[in-house]
Amino acid sequence: MTDNEKIAEVLNAYRAAIAARSPKSLAIWQQNRTVMPAGVGSVFRLADPLPMVIRRAQGSRIWDADDREYLDCMLGFSVMILGNAPEEVEAAIREALPDGTHYGQCHEHEYGFARLFCDMVPGLDRVSFCNSGTEATLYALRLARGTTGRPLIAKFEGGYHGTHDFLAVSFGRSGGGPEGLGPVEDPRTIPESPGLVEGAWRDTIVLPFNHPAAFDKIRRHADRLAGVIIEPVQGAAGAIPADREFLVELRRITQEIGAFLIFDEVITGFRRNSRPLFCS
Ligand SMILES: Cc1ncc(COP(=O)(O)O)c(C=O)c1O
Repeated sequence: MTDNEKIAEVLNAYRAAIAARSPKSLAIWQQNRTVMPAGVGSVFRLADPLPMVIRRAQGSRIWDADDREYLDCMLGFSVMILGNAPEEVEAAIREALPDGTHYGQCHEHEYGFARLFCDMVPGLDRVSFCNSGTEATLYALRLARGTTGRPLIAKFEGGYHGTHDFLAVSFGRSGGGPEGLGPVEDPRTIPESPGLVEGAWRDTIVLPFNHPAAFDKIRRHADRLAGVIIEPVQGAAGAIPADREFLVELRRITQEIGAFLIFDEVITGFRRNSRPLFCS
Protein backbone atom coordinates (compact mmCIF):
# COMPACT_ATOMS: atom_id res chain seq x y z
CA MET A 1 0.00 0.00 0.00
CA THR A 2 1.40 3.46 -0.93
CA ASP A 3 1.56 6.30 1.58
CA ASN A 4 -1.28 8.07 -0.22
CA GLU A 5 -3.45 4.95 -0.06
CA LYS A 6 -2.73 4.62 3.67
CA ILE A 7 -3.68 8.28 4.23
CA ALA A 8 -6.88 7.78 2.20
CA GLU A 9 -7.74 4.70 4.29
CA VAL A 10 -7.30 6.58 7.59
CA LEU A 11 -9.29 9.54 6.29
CA ASN A 12 -12.13 7.35 5.07
CA ALA A 13 -12.30 5.56 8.43
CA TYR A 14 -12.42 8.95 10.16
CA ARG A 15 -15.19 10.17 7.81
CA ALA A 16 -17.24 7.02 8.40
CA ALA A 17 -16.83 7.32 12.19
CA ILE A 18 -17.93 10.98 12.22
CA ALA A 19 -20.95 10.23 10.00
CA ALA A 20 -21.93 7.19 12.13
CA ARG A 21 -21.94 9.17 15.38
CA SER A 22 -23.84 12.12 13.89
CA PRO A 23 -27.09 10.67 12.48
CA LYS A 24 -29.24 13.72 13.33
CA SER A 25 -26.69 16.23 12.02
CA LEU A 26 -26.39 14.17 8.85
CA ALA A 27 -30.17 14.09 8.36
CA ILE A 28 -30.48 17.87 8.92
CA TRP A 29 -27.64 18.53 6.49
CA GLN A 30 -29.23 16.26 3.86
CA GLN A 31 -32.50 18.14 4.26
CA ASN A 32 -30.64 21.48 3.98
CA ARG A 33 -29.20 20.31 0.67
CA THR A 34 -32.69 20.40 -0.84
CA VAL A 35 -32.95 24.17 -0.27
CA MET A 36 -29.37 25.47 0.04
CA PRO A 37 -26.33 24.95 -2.20
CA ALA A 38 -24.16 22.23 -0.61
CA GLY A 39 -26.61 22.27 2.32
CA VAL A 40 -24.96 25.27 3.98
CA GLY A 41 -26.02 28.86 4.50
CA SER A 42 -22.47 30.07 3.85
CA VAL A 43 -19.57 28.41 2.09
CA PHE A 44 -17.48 28.79 5.26
CA ARG A 45 -19.61 26.16 7.03
CA LEU A 46 -18.50 23.43 4.61
CA ALA A 47 -16.58 20.63 6.29
CA ASP A 48 -15.47 17.13 5.52
CA PRO A 49 -17.35 14.81 5.85
CA LEU A 50 -20.26 16.99 7.02
CA PRO A 51 -20.74 20.45 8.53
CA MET A 52 -21.37 20.78 12.26
CA VAL A 53 -25.07 21.27 12.92
CA ILE A 54 -25.53 23.12 16.19
CA ARG A 55 -28.50 22.85 18.53
CA ARG A 56 -27.49 25.29 21.28
CA ALA A 57 -24.58 26.95 23.04
CA GLN A 58 -23.94 28.28 26.54
CA GLY A 59 -20.82 29.98 27.87
CA SER A 60 -17.77 28.20 26.50
CA ARG A 61 -19.76 25.08 25.48
CA ILE A 62 -21.62 24.17 22.33
CA TRP A 63 -23.85 21.16 21.53
CA ASP A 64 -24.53 19.63 18.14
CA ALA A 65 -27.81 18.19 16.89
CA ASP A 66 -26.71 14.77 18.20
CA ASP A 67 -26.27 16.29 21.67
CA ARG A 68 -22.51 16.04 21.65
CA GLU A 69 -20.88 18.68 23.82
CA TYR A 70 -17.80 20.58 22.65
CA LEU A 71 -15.55 23.31 23.99
CA ASP A 72 -16.36 26.20 21.65
CA CYS A 73 -12.99 27.52 20.50
CA MET A 74 -14.56 29.29 17.54
CA LEU A 75 -17.06 31.54 19.37
CA GLY A 76 -18.80 32.63 16.17
CA PHE A 77 -15.51 33.75 14.57
CA SER A 78 -14.95 35.65 17.86
CA VAL A 79 -18.19 37.63 17.70
CA MET A 80 -19.20 35.83 20.90
CA ILE A 81 -16.13 37.08 22.73
CA LEU A 82 -18.03 37.00 26.05
CA GLY A 83 -19.09 33.40 25.47
CA ASN A 84 -22.40 32.06 24.22
CA ALA A 85 -25.61 33.61 25.54
CA PRO A 86 -23.94 35.70 28.29
CA GLU A 87 -26.47 36.87 30.87
CA GLU A 88 -25.45 40.56 30.69
CA VAL A 89 -25.92 40.65 26.92
CA GLU A 90 -29.24 38.80 27.09
CA ALA A 91 -30.48 41.22 29.74
CA ALA A 92 -29.41 44.23 27.65
CA ILE A 93 -31.17 42.83 24.58
CA ARG A 94 -34.33 42.14 26.58
CA GLU A 95 -34.29 45.69 27.93
CA ALA A 96 -33.82 47.24 24.46
CA LEU A 97 -36.28 45.05 22.49
CA PRO A 98 -39.51 46.85 23.43
CA ASP A 99 -38.10 50.06 21.89
CA GLY A 100 -37.86 48.43 18.46
CA THR A 101 -34.99 46.79 16.64
CA HIS A 102 -34.25 48.74 13.47
CA TYR A 103 -35.00 52.38 12.79
CA GLY A 104 -33.17 53.08 9.55
CA GLN A 105 -32.30 56.43 11.18
CA CYS A 106 -29.76 57.87 13.59
CA HIS A 107 -30.46 56.98 17.19
CA GLU A 108 -29.49 58.28 20.59
CA HIS A 109 -27.12 55.47 21.59
CA GLU A 110 -24.77 55.72 18.61
CA TYR A 111 -22.56 58.37 20.16
CA GLY A 112 -21.79 56.29 23.26
CA PHE A 113 -20.98 53.22 21.18
CA ALA A 114 -18.68 55.09 18.79
CA ARG A 115 -17.06 56.95 21.71
CA LEU A 116 -16.23 53.60 23.34
CA PHE A 117 -14.15 52.56 20.31
CA CYS A 118 -12.39 55.92 20.13
CA ASP A 119 -11.50 55.75 23.83
CA MET A 120 -10.25 52.17 23.57
CA VAL A 121 -8.00 52.53 20.53
CA PRO A 122 -5.26 55.14 20.66
CA GLY A 123 -5.21 57.18 17.46
CA LEU A 124 -8.81 56.34 16.49
CA ASP A 125 -10.69 59.59 15.88
CA ARG A 126 -13.89 58.51 14.17
CA VAL A 127 -15.88 55.34 13.65
CA SER A 128 -18.14 54.16 10.86
CA PHE A 129 -20.37 51.10 11.28
CA CYS A 130 -20.74 48.49 8.53
CA ASN A 131 -22.88 45.38 8.05
CA SER A 132 -19.96 43.04 7.40
CA GLY A 133 -16.21 42.85 7.11
CA THR A 134 -16.57 42.62 3.34
CA GLU A 135 -18.44 45.92 3.27
CA ALA A 136 -15.92 47.57 5.61
CA THR A 137 -12.89 46.63 3.52
CA LEU A 138 -14.70 47.62 0.32
CA TYR A 139 -15.37 51.10 1.74
CA ALA A 140 -11.82 51.36 3.09
CA LEU A 141 -10.44 50.75 -0.42
CA ARG A 142 -12.86 53.26 -1.91
CA LEU A 143 -11.84 55.85 0.69
CA ALA A 144 -8.15 55.25 -0.05
CA ARG A 145 -8.63 55.49 -3.83
CA GLY A 146 -11.01 58.44 -3.63
CA THR A 147 -8.76 60.43 -1.29
CA THR A 148 -5.41 59.77 -2.96
CA GLY A 149 -6.65 59.65 -6.57
CA ARG A 150 -4.40 56.62 -7.07
CA PRO A 151 -5.55 53.25 -8.48
CA LEU A 152 -3.54 50.50 -6.73
CA ILE A 153 -4.24 48.60 -3.52
CA ALA A 154 -1.70 46.26 -1.95
CA LYS A 155 -2.68 43.27 0.14
CA PHE A 156 -0.61 40.52 1.71
CA GLU A 157 -0.38 36.95 0.52
CA GLY A 158 -2.54 34.79 2.79
CA GLY A 159 -4.57 37.78 4.01
CA TYR A 160 -8.35 37.41 3.89
CA HIS A 161 -10.50 40.54 3.66
CA GLY A 162 -13.92 39.28 2.60
CA THR A 163 -15.53 38.23 -0.61
CA HIS A 164 -15.66 41.31 -2.85
CA ASP A 165 -13.84 41.05 -6.16
CA PHE A 166 -11.04 43.54 -5.41
CA LEU A 167 -9.56 41.50 -2.59
CA ALA A 168 -10.74 37.94 -3.35
CA VAL A 169 -7.19 37.09 -4.37
CA SER A 170 -4.19 35.24 -3.02
CA PHE A 171 -5.52 34.14 0.35
CA GLY A 172 -4.41 30.64 -0.24
CA ARG A 173 -7.07 28.41 -1.74
CA SER A 174 -5.93 28.57 -5.34
CA GLY A 175 -2.60 28.87 -7.03
CA GLY A 176 -2.01 25.51 -8.65
CA GLY A 177 1.05 24.61 -6.56
CA PRO A 178 4.12 26.55 -5.53
CA GLU A 179 5.00 27.65 -9.11
CA GLY A 180 1.56 29.24 -9.53
CA LEU A 181 2.00 31.36 -6.41
CA GLY A 182 5.04 33.21 -7.79
CA PRO A 183 8.34 33.92 -6.03
CA VAL A 184 8.24 34.27 -2.22
CA GLU A 185 9.46 37.88 -2.46
CA ASP A 186 7.01 38.85 -5.21
CA PRO A 187 3.76 36.83 -4.98
CA ARG A 188 1.37 36.81 -7.91
CA THR A 189 -2.18 38.11 -7.73
CA ILE A 190 -4.27 34.96 -7.95
CA PRO A 191 -8.08 35.16 -8.16
CA GLU A 192 -9.65 32.83 -5.61
CA SER A 193 -12.87 32.17 -7.47
CA PRO A 194 -14.26 31.91 -10.97
CA GLY A 195 -16.77 34.62 -11.78
CA LEU A 196 -14.86 37.68 -10.54
CA VAL A 197 -15.47 40.75 -12.68
CA GLU A 198 -12.90 40.83 -15.48
CA GLY A 199 -9.99 42.99 -14.29
CA ALA A 200 -11.53 43.78 -10.88
CA TRP A 201 -8.34 42.61 -9.20
CA ARG A 202 -5.98 44.03 -11.87
CA ASP A 203 -5.22 46.94 -9.56
CA THR A 204 -4.55 44.71 -6.54
CA ILE A 205 -0.91 43.87 -5.92
CA VAL A 206 0.18 41.16 -3.50
CA LEU A 207 2.97 41.55 -0.94
CA PRO A 208 4.88 38.90 1.02
CA PHE A 209 3.74 38.84 4.68
CA ASN A 210 6.33 39.59 7.37
CA HIS A 211 8.99 39.84 4.64
CA PRO A 212 11.15 42.92 3.94
CA ALA A 213 10.68 42.44 0.18
CA ALA A 214 7.19 43.86 0.78
CA PHE A 215 8.75 47.29 1.29
CA ASP A 216 10.67 47.10 -2.02
CA LYS A 217 7.44 46.25 -3.83
CA ILE A 218 5.62 49.13 -2.12
CA ARG A 219 8.40 51.50 -3.19
CA ARG A 220 8.24 50.21 -6.79
CA HIS A 221 4.54 51.15 -6.96
CA ALA A 222 4.69 54.17 -4.62
CA ASP A 223 3.29 56.84 -6.92
CA ARG A 224 0.27 54.69 -7.94
CA LEU A 225 -0.46 53.11 -4.56
CA ALA A 226 -3.62 54.29 -2.78
CA GLY A 227 -3.34 52.00 0.23
CA VAL A 228 -2.01 48.87 1.87
CA ILE A 229 -4.44 46.56 3.67
CA ILE A 230 -3.22 44.07 6.26
CA GLU A 231 -4.57 41.73 8.90
CA PRO A 232 -2.27 42.49 11.84
CA VAL A 233 -2.93 38.88 12.80
CA GLN A 234 -3.64 36.78 9.71
CA GLY A 235 -6.69 34.68 10.60
CA ALA A 236 -7.56 32.30 7.79
CA ALA A 237 -3.86 31.70 7.11
CA GLY A 238 -3.47 30.22 10.61
CA ALA A 239 -3.41 32.98 13.26
CA ILE A 240 -0.02 34.38 12.22
CA PRO A 241 0.81 37.71 13.87
CA ALA A 242 2.68 40.35 11.91
CA ASP A 243 6.01 41.18 13.54
CA ARG A 244 5.85 44.41 15.47
CA GLU A 245 8.91 45.84 13.65
CA PHE A 246 7.28 44.89 10.34
CA LEU A 247 4.14 46.87 11.21
CA VAL A 248 6.14 49.85 12.42
CA GLU A 249 8.09 49.93 9.13
CA LEU A 250 4.86 49.49 7.17
CA ARG A 251 3.37 52.49 8.98
CA ARG A 252 6.52 54.50 8.28
CA ILE A 253 6.69 53.72 4.57
CA THR A 254 2.96 54.20 3.88
CA GLN A 255 3.13 57.57 5.61
CA GLU A 256 6.23 58.47 3.57
CA ILE A 257 4.54 57.73 0.22
CA GLY A 258 1.16 59.20 1.25
CA ALA A 259 -0.78 55.92 1.05
CA PHE A 260 -3.43 54.65 3.46
CA LEU A 261 -2.54 51.87 5.89
CA ILE A 262 -5.66 49.81 6.58
CA PHE A 263 -5.77 47.42 9.55
CA ASP A 264 -8.43 44.76 9.06
CA GLU A 265 -9.23 43.29 12.46
CA VAL A 266 -12.52 41.54 11.77
CA ILE A 267 -11.82 38.32 13.66
CA THR A 268 -9.19 39.36 16.17
CA GLY A 269 -12.30 40.06 18.24
CA PHE A 270 -11.11 43.41 19.53
CA ARG A 271 -9.19 41.67 22.27
CA ARG A 272 -7.14 43.65 24.71
CA ASN A 273 -3.96 41.83 23.73
CA SER A 274 -4.25 43.16 20.18
CA ARG A 275 -3.89 46.72 21.52
CA PRO A 276 -0.09 46.87 21.44
CA LEU A 277 -0.29 46.41 17.69
CA PHE A 278 -2.10 49.72 17.45
CA CYS A 279 0.32 51.68 19.61
CA SER A 280 3.67 52.24 17.98
C1 LIG B 1 -9.86 39.70 8.50
C2 LIG B 1 -11.20 39.59 7.87
N1 LIG B 1 -11.63 40.55 7.04
C3 LIG B 1 -12.84 40.50 6.44
C4 LIG B 1 -13.68 39.44 6.68
C5 LIG B 1 -15.02 39.39 6.00
O1 LIG B 1 -16.00 39.59 6.94
P1 LIG B 1 -17.53 39.23 6.60
O2 LIG B 1 -17.58 37.73 6.56
O3 LIG B 1 -18.29 39.83 7.74
O4 LIG B 1 -17.84 39.85 5.29
C6 LIG B 1 -13.28 38.40 7.54
C7 LIG B 1 -14.17 37.27 7.81
O5 LIG B 1 -13.84 36.35 8.50
C8 LIG B 1 -12.01 38.47 8.13
O6 LIG B 1 -11.57 37.50 8.93
